[in-house]
Amino acid sequence: GLTPLDSTKLSIEHTTEPKPKPAKEGLIWGATFSDHMLEVDWDDETGWHPPEIVPFHDLELSPAASVLHYGLEAFEGLKAYAAPDGAVLLFRPDLNLARFNASLKRLRMPTFDAAELQALIAELLSVDADWVPRGEGYALYLRPTAISTTPSIGVAPARRVKLYVIASPCGPYYKEGFVPVKLYADTTYTRSWPGGAGYTKTGGNYAPTIFPAAEAQKRGCSQVLWLYGEDDLVTEVGAMNFFALLRDARDPSRLELVTPTLDRRDILAGVTRASVLDLARSWGDCAVSERDVGMRELRDAAREGRLVEAFATGTAAVISPIHAIEYRGEDLVCARGGDGIGPFAQRLWDALRDIQYGRVRHAWSVRA
Ligand code: COI
Repeated sequence: GLTPLDSTKLSIEHTTEPKPKPAKEGLIWGATFSDHMLEVDWDDETGWHPPEIVPFHDLELSPAASVLHYGLEAFEGLKAYAAPDGAVLLFRPDLNLARFNASLKRLRMPTFDAAELQALIAELLSVDADWVPRGEGYALYLRPTAISTTPSIGVAPARRVKLYVIASPCGPYYKEGFVPVKLYADTTYTRSWPGGAGYTKTGGNYAPTIFPAAEAQKRGCSQVLWLYGEDDLVTEVGAMNFFALLRDARDPSRLELVTPTLDRRDILAGVTRASVLDLARSWGDCAVSERDVGMRELRDAAREGRLVEAFATGTAAVISPIHAIEYRGEDLVCARGGDGIGPFAQRLWDALRDIQYGRVRHAWSVRA
């Protein structure tokens, strides 16, 4: 049989040229990397090779490598946070690693034992511990990635794969900071559809979003609200999940937090999404629904002042408030938030941060 991923076979080569740590205030999101990376090769005769932590370096691969032609690759994003006592905390890494395997399976690429990769990530974090930036809003963003290095332009399953993890110290995702954004509800381009791969974190889901996002920006909208089907069902926002807080049309004392269902397998099962749902359900002061959310419903709610708040969730930005949505020539404006963040999104944001930075003890935050 093929050799499974084995963290006990790890070798570590320390850099002899440590880079100076950048000032955290000047960090550009995703552009700075720590001193080391984790690398594990796989081939279809051996299975997983011994893992290595090595100095951060460029890759060498065949120009025929199928990742370069057919996008045979999957990735993840999770953050390591510095707790007040100096511990390094990961937020629900089990969910990211399970999703990584789901993405790889969809591409017929090799999967791995998640506990082994988590142990290897912990080793990388101990080697690069001083790259975890301190301070509210800062974290070390981890990017597990797996690419097909198979040197063939045949459209075929990967026979060679490189899995690696790089680490990027980061601050706020949006350079404007924590400001509410306007969305463009796009009725021309579709990100995903039933039977597709919209639930996976694969490069092929992101490359085709760049052009529509640039078009939306020309219209003064900072992100695309992705729709699907005849009923203009909401799927995602940019690269994040969508939430709205709606007031009931008949009983104005009733609020409902809604987010699109995962049932169609056309949206990403976000870790922040799952956490927001769990928190809101535990608070119990509004109904919480994973269901179809159509643009007609949002338009009616906005026209009647019942679109109370809207926000997007993701690992990178955590919570991104939305103040308006341009839809078929009309601006749908949220009732609460205005130039700031609505109180419900703010409460979620505070609760998540307290857990992520280890200010409250919670099973979601685990010591690396
Ligand atoms: C997110 O964390 O919201 C993302 O989707 C990561 C993004 C940089 C692809």
